Amino acid sequence: MNKINRNARQVSAQIVSNKKVGAYHHMVFNVGEIAALCKPGNFVAISVGGENSSMVLRRAFAIYRAVDRGAGNGLIELVVAPHGGGSRWLTSCGVDDVVDLIAPLGTAFGIPSEPVRALLVGGGYGSAPLFGLSEVLKARGCRVDMVLGASSAAKIYAPLEGKRSVSSLTITTDDGSAGVLGKVSDVLTDLIDSNSIDIVYSCGPMGMLAAITEIANAKGIMHQCAVEESMACGIGVCMTCVIPVRDSSGVIKMLRSCIDGPVMDGANVIWDSKRKIPEGTWGA
Ligand SMILES: Cc1cc2nc3c(=O)[nH]c(=O)nc-3n(C[C@H](O)[C@H](O)[C@H](O)COP(=O)(O)OP(=O)(O)OC[C@H]3O[C@@H](n4cnc5c(N)ncnc54)[C@H](O)[C@@H]3O)c2cc1C
Ligand code: FES
Repeated sequence: MNKINRNARQVSAQIVSNKKVGAYHHMVFNVGEIAALCKPGNFVAISVGGENSSMVLRRAFAIYRAVDRGAGNGLIELVVAPHGGGSRWLTSCGVDDVVDLIAPLGTAFGIPSEPVRALLVGGGYGSAPLFGLSEVLKARGCRVDMVLGASSAAKIYAPLEGKRSVSSLTITTDDGSAGVLGKVSDVLTDLIDSNSIDIVYSCGPMGMLAAITEIANAKGIMHQCAVEESMACGIGVCMTCVIPVRDSSGVIKMLRSCIDGPVMDGANVIWDSKRKIPEGTWGA
């Protein structure tokens, strides 16, 4: 495995809890000592469908929270949206069922060494890694504001403890069923200005991340985003997850979002490539 995944382990993880929250399932897994190695932004890859399943590919899920209880007794929490066969199978599993899980995978959000003013932006289940990130940032003395957007109220994932853990929480929905009618990008400029934001962290659909990058670039602030490109293997082998990214010398390369991501500097991603390899791209 790439050095980014050097801590990753394959474990048999027992399900400790599985609760429906709005359109999602909040699921807790007993993963042993690897919980201590998980950072906000990392993801897990889970085998789905049981022993004789035709679903051979693992499914990727962002780590919502990792809890190290000591003595190799850690938990990983996920927020899962049931929609296709794999996610429906996972959310139908019961307490005490055991799943095959690999974690921690991928890059993590960079944490500033000084206290800064951070705005966390999540779309749909993309809010999952932001609550753990918020806890880490607050422990560093940062002010944390949050924006969560979704198509409708049921698809906003904002548990009560999440609301309490940030200085302000703004909700947007496409249909106006909760919070501000519109998209997260509609409220971003005002929030960046009124809270003197230094850095934006985000996770959600690629279109949302592209819109946030445009706003962050216009404001001259950094934007770290966790991309949600479809992943077949999740461990750097298959190249299905490549996206065009400009490196520090200006060269565009097709990078694997499961290895060089999911967390990336939004300003370096070529968002308008329309799933084609941009002209002048040099290798992977
Ligand atoms: C980094 C990351 C974090 C995520 N976090 C969450 C989360 O926190 N919560 C959540 O609900 N969802 C999350 N997702 C989305 C989740 O992985 C998908 O919803 C899930 O894989 C769907 O599986 P399914 O069987 O239900 O759906 P289906 O649509 O039936 O199957 C999708 C599967 O097809 C395969 N596939 C996709 N693209 C290709 C390809 N190009 N070539 C070959 N096979 C392909 C993959 O194995 C993929 O998992 C995340 C995805 C990524 C990449
Ligand atoms: S998902 Fe296979 S290389 Fe990234």
